[in-house]
Amino acid sequence: MSPAVARRALLGGLCLALYCLCQADKSWRPVFLPDEFQKKVQCSGPCDFMTAAGDHGLSSVGRPQEKDASQLSGKHEWKKLIMVQHWPETVCEDVQNNCRDPPDYWTIHGLWADKSETCNRSWPFNLEEIKDLLPEMRTYWPDVIHSSPNCSHFWKHEWDKHGTCAAQVDALNSQKKYFSRCLDLYKELDLNSKLLKLGIKPSINYYHIEDFRDALARVYGVIPKIQCLPPRQGEEVQTIGQIELCLTKDHQQLRNCTEPEEPPALGQEVWPVDVAAEGLRVCEDGPVFYPPPKRTKH
Ligand SMILES: *[C@@H]1O[C@H](CO)[C@@H](O)[C@H](O)[C@H]1NC(C)=O
Ligand SMILES: *[C@@H]1O[C@H](CO)[C@@H](O)[C@H](O)[C@H]1NC(C)=O
Ligand SMILES: *[C@@H]1O[C@H](CO)[C@@H](O)[C@H](O)[C@H]1NC(C)=O
Repeated sequence: MSPAVARRALLGGLCLALYCLCQADKSWRPVFLPDEFQKKVQCSGPCDFMTAAGDHGLSSVGRPQEKDASQLSGKHEWKKLIMVQHWPETVCEDVQNNCRDPPDYWTIHGLWADKSETCNRSWPFNLEEIKDLLPEMRTYWPDVIHSSPNCSHFWKHEWDKHGTCAAQVDALNSQKKYFSRCLDLYKELDLNSKLLKLGIKPSINYYHIEDFRDALARVYGVIPKIQCLPPRQGEEVQTIGQIELCLTKDHQQLRNCTEPEEPPALGQEVWPVDVAAEGLRVCEDGPVFYPPPKRTKH
């Protein structure tokens, strides 16, 4: 092991230990978003998701007839959870929707079981069960695409497709548990302040994808999966859009997304392809744009 590698491994281990310590202490709560964020996202008003984005991206939220992964795998078996967070500005660009003032912080996309989808069609989403969580859900798990979003459509989609699989684990075996555990994980992982502390903030200057990889590996001690929108016509570089961190099935502790013996490319092929992540793919090595949120007038 070279000294640099050893140092990095040591640092990673320390961070992981620290993270576990923090998790063990239930009273520990990060202060991770200023109050002003709390009011920014409002999910109310009529449901317009069917028309807002055409047949793109999240417009398929709520369509129950998606291909069932069980038809491919035979069974609903899975080994790890994936905590998926996305960058709202990029999500909006992905679906070419002029979202109105998308949040300027990473928000939750979902908590997914790998290799399984839509595991229990007889377990309908029930908003009543997560009533207590709604203020936090609106802030940290908004449906960023739709100008007048009915957030619960997005949450219903995530529950139907991913929550019903995650619910095989005791810690996640109710809607209340699934959504609140996900909110807790979001707060514990605290991606927004972690990136800021490492000096990685949205900028018109490009980053290198290694900046993200190294920073995340350093703070979390595991290798994340980072997804980008490939450059469109007239664009020079890819745009960062989504960060996935893998967790153990039973205790939702951070782990690497691939097994040591598993080549990364193989792991990626079988990951669930979510409808909202249509244009996103694993980032290429090289420069990457981390777009500052555009302010739109309304
Ligand atoms: C929002 O969506 C939920 C679940 O699909 C539905 O029950 C509710 O009536 C919708 N609310 C509005 C205001 O459209
Ligand atoms: C599906 O969900 C329903 C409602 O919670 C439950 O009664 C049933 O046992 C579940 N089925 C499976 C296979 O988990
Ligand atoms: C994750 O993978 C990296 C690189 O392969 C390795 O150095 C590290 O020890 C792994 N961490 C865990 C927790 O398995």
